[in-house]
Amino acid sequence: MSVVVLDFGSQYTRLIARRLRESNVFSVVLPGTASVDRIRAADPAALVFSGSPQSACRPDATRPDERVYDLGLPILGICYGFHLLVQRFGGRVAATTTHEYGRANLVRLDGPLLDGIEPGANVWMSHADSVERLPEDWTSIASSDANPNAAATSADGRHVGVQFHPEVAHTPIGTQFLERFLDRAGVRRDWTPDAIRDRITTETVDRVGGDRVLLAVSGGVDSSALALLLARAGIDHLAVFVDHGLLREGERDEVEHALGGLGVCLHVVDAKDRFLAALRGVDDPEAKRRTIGREFIRVFEEVAASRGPFRFLAQGTLYPDVIESAGGEGAANIKSHHNVGGLPERLGFELLEPFRLLFKDEVRELASLLGLPDAIRLRHPFPGPGLAIRVLGEATEAKVALARRADRVFVEELRASGWYERVWQTLAVLIPVRTVGVAGDERRYGFVVALRAVTSTDGMTADWARLPADLLDRVSARITREVPEIGRVVYDTTSKPPATIEWE
Ligand code: XMP
Repeated sequence: MSVVVLDFGSQYTRLIARRLRESNVFSVVLPGTASVDRIRAADPAALVFSGSPQSACRPDATRPDERVYDLGLPILGICYGFHLLVQRFGGRVAATTTHEYGRANLVRLDGPLLDGIEPGANVWMSHADSVERLPEDWTSIASSDANPNAAATSADGRHVGVQFHPEVAHTPIGTQFLERFLDRAGVRRDWTPDAIRDRITTETVDRVGGDRVLLAVSGGVDSSALALLLARAGIDHLAVFVDHGLLREGERDEVEHALGGLGVCLHVVDAKDRFLAALRGVDDPEAKRRTIGREFIRVFEEVAASRGPFRFLAQGTLYPDVIESAGGEGAANIKSHHNVGGLPERLGFELLEPFRLLFKDEVRELASLLGLPDAIRLRHPFPGPGLAIRVLGEATEAKVALARRADRVFVEELRASGWYERVWQTLAVLIPVRTVGVAGDERRYGFVVALRAVTSTDGMTADWARLPADLLDRVSARITREVPEIGRVVYDTTSKPPATIEWE
């Protein structure tokens, strides 16, 4: 059983799916134009129509397959989705002057869906069009200052529309509202961590049968949880960890220790020399990525040849990379680092992606159930090319070592201050430009390190973290003292967009 979210292009569509998952409901996102057969195949108990940057007043507006209405399912329409419902059932939507962008208050609330929510509740609005006339048997159940139809339902309560966005954090009553809708729609809330583990395990075991699985572990939570899942499920696997010499301090030991101790069949390849040799003279960021990717494939091919045969290649691909939405995300946009660059085709593997329907927080919970130590489970994301893209320009062994030492100090201080868990990711980027300083009585001519800490929910957008000045002060003092080759420390106050998280 699921809730199908039909995506009409809203920037918040993924958030709707996540909110539903957080309420223990399995949700899937399908394009707004998905055929009714495709929707039915997802076994929906209810549908949600998302918002959209489009106007439902235009004749070319995207509309769902007309037959979805014959499924007889409860439908929640959000913003544009509300407008689609209103038009479908005989009401009127118009481009009115009552545009609402940003916070608004619900001033009148009526009916069981909003029971217990106090007048004045904050909601997030973002619309130019409004519902001018509701369909005949519909009733308005909430108004805002500017809008008498902030929420409405059909007489039988099966169809509900909201002008506000219950899925965003700026609507504090949003989760309560969504859960009321789900409960009244009779949707079972059974997507719990245990259920997730059992379903993923059963599906994976059924698919693999008695065959062998190869996977690459990076030390991040996704691939580590995947290795652990295979081990716990009794699947014959080989987890390959490539030490390319571009790791953070202690990372290899941590992975060996954690996964080795949990029954994962781990094979560590020491390939430092060949990666560093391959990177010699390469200073363009994309060229560095390509070089590392190519070398990685070679190492992997060698392991596959010597330890094979394997039928499957397992990857920790997550749902946000799979969602095929009206916003254009989807299979075509899978980040290259999620595919171990072209390996499946070259080696004739079948791809196994057990987490392809999960969000990152669900993988973290699953990892916890499987017993993955917090040191790995709560780790910040770390890019596959590692410190090579945190040394601007050519990544020599010496410069990588400086970036590593600065990173260690930064991470240590973040952990000690309790800030590590409060940020999504942290970076110490070596800028190979020398600036003048003094150390004791001597003039020093040292490199610059840029510290970066960001908050984010999925890495797609990010805000720079407002770390306390005294924390930054400690990190800066320690780096310049403990890594004398570094003479200056700066803090990056750019969000994404316009910057990316990594500097290269
Ligand atoms: P950007 O820099 O694009 O990063 O804002 C978004 C997230 O992706 C990570 N990242 C990578 N991960 N290989 C990876 O495995 C890469 O080449 C790569 N580039 C960026 C980055 O650390 C952040 O979490």
